[in-house]
Amino acid sequence: MSTTFTLTPDEQRLAEQYKTELQKRLKPKRYRHSLCVADAAVRLAQQYGYPDLSKAYFAGLLHDITKNDSEQQHKSRMQQYGYQPSDIEAGQEKLWHAKTGVLVLEHEFGITDRELLTAIRYHTTARAGMTPLEEILYLADFISDDRDYDGVQEMRQAAAQDKQTAMEIALCFTITDLVERRKPIHPDTLDAYNELCIKE
Ligand SMILES: [Fe+2]
Ligand SMILES: [Fe+2]
Repeated sequence: MSTTFTLTPDEQRLAEQYKTELQKRLKPKRYRHSLCVADAAVRLAQQYGYPDLSKAYFAGLLHDITKNDSEQQHKSRMQQYGYQPSDIEAGQEKLWHAKTGVLVLEHEFGITDRELLTAIRYHTTARAGMTPLEEILYLADFISDDRDYDGVQEMRQAAAQDKQTAMEIALCFTITDLVERRKPIHPDTLDAYNELCIKE
């Protein structure tokens, strides 16, 4: 599905620079995923009444910028910029790219927008008290056009109807998957899940 929003000429130039950088850092499949998540983030932003569509676009575009980095690259970035992973993070490489992605965007790309950076920081774990942009990016990553996991249609329908229901389904999916694979659950993910349960 295409979106109807347009970037300003300055934003367009920036987007082209970021795309060039992403193509250098990411495998083609991951680059395509990034474009699809950017598109999905704009759609959800429009749907949920989030006003800054360009920010949603850039959050989606950049969210996986270090996803294809090697274990050593992640480790040296965390060391270089002083990020101390928790025990659960240290044992799960899949969680690293959300943290190192923010470090790269902040220290190497000069991005200072906290709202954009925290959306990327929590796009794999979620957390309690998520901002609208954090929720948009978290869900966009689940429903982007390139996704084809079992249950993606249900997820897309939920996201199209109600953000809270979609968040519940996404968190249950994540937690169930981790339990089935006997993987630890990040405390932020449990906090996000508990918060939704308590709100009901
Ligand atoms: Fe990711
Ligand atoms: Fe992603």
